[in-house]
Amino acid sequence: MPPVEVEWKSGRIVCHLPITQPTSKVRIKRGGMPLAPRQNNLKDCDLIEWQISYRNREGRLSELGQMLRIGYRKGAIGEDVLIKLQKFGDNINKFFDECYEITVEVTEQKFLGEFTVLMRQVPIVQRELTNGCFVEGELKHKQRAVGYQPMLYVFIPVQNVISRHGGLVGRPACKKEVVDWCPSVDDIIGITRTFVVLSRKHRDDIQNIIHRLLQYR
Ligand code: ADE
Repeated sequence: MPPVEVEWKSGRIVCHLPITQPTSKVRIKRGGMPLAPRQNNLKDCDLIEWQISYRNREGRLSELGQMLRIGYRKGAIGEDVLIKLQKFGDNINKFFDECYEITVEVTEQKFLGEFTVLMRQVPIVQRELTNGCFVEGELKHKQRAVGYQPMLYVFIPVQNVISRHGGLVGRPACKKEVVDWCPSVDDIIGITRTFVVLSRKHRDDIQNIIHRLLQYR
């Protein structure tokens, strides 16, 4: 799984998203379902779903972490913006994972007479970004422990990206196609604010990244 590369190009932050690896953190979705982009003509209602990271396994900044660092170093993201994000984090006393839980309702419904039907409700926070993009934070049960591990996803309409093969709408994706998305500063702020509210751990991680950036320059 190649990570998403982030670079500064022509005065903008550019994210290079590989859209054809089904096991990667970047997928195409249509109506909430994964779609095989090599086998389908893409439509303007299709979304790129990106499970964005901020640090990699080695502890280096990745993806959102790199956007914040590059944006700050190049002057696109001001010191005032980073300080405001720190204050936003300082003022949170209840995080999303502490306020909501996954619930299971036992209904009266029977399936084929012998089965009871249960309904699971999963809390999701959603925040709009610019140009039809949005972020979601979804509660998940921790894999090997009690408690929740909220997961954050960025959604980008396929109309908003281009690659060297041009726009995506009206054609299938090419082999190993990588598309470019240029997030606005407001997009980067919106994603960061969503991470900050998800859980205390996410808030602390993000504040640690911003603190180090502010120390540096
Ligand atoms: N930690 C790093 N990336 C994450 C993501 N996309 N969702 C939740 N936690 C994360």
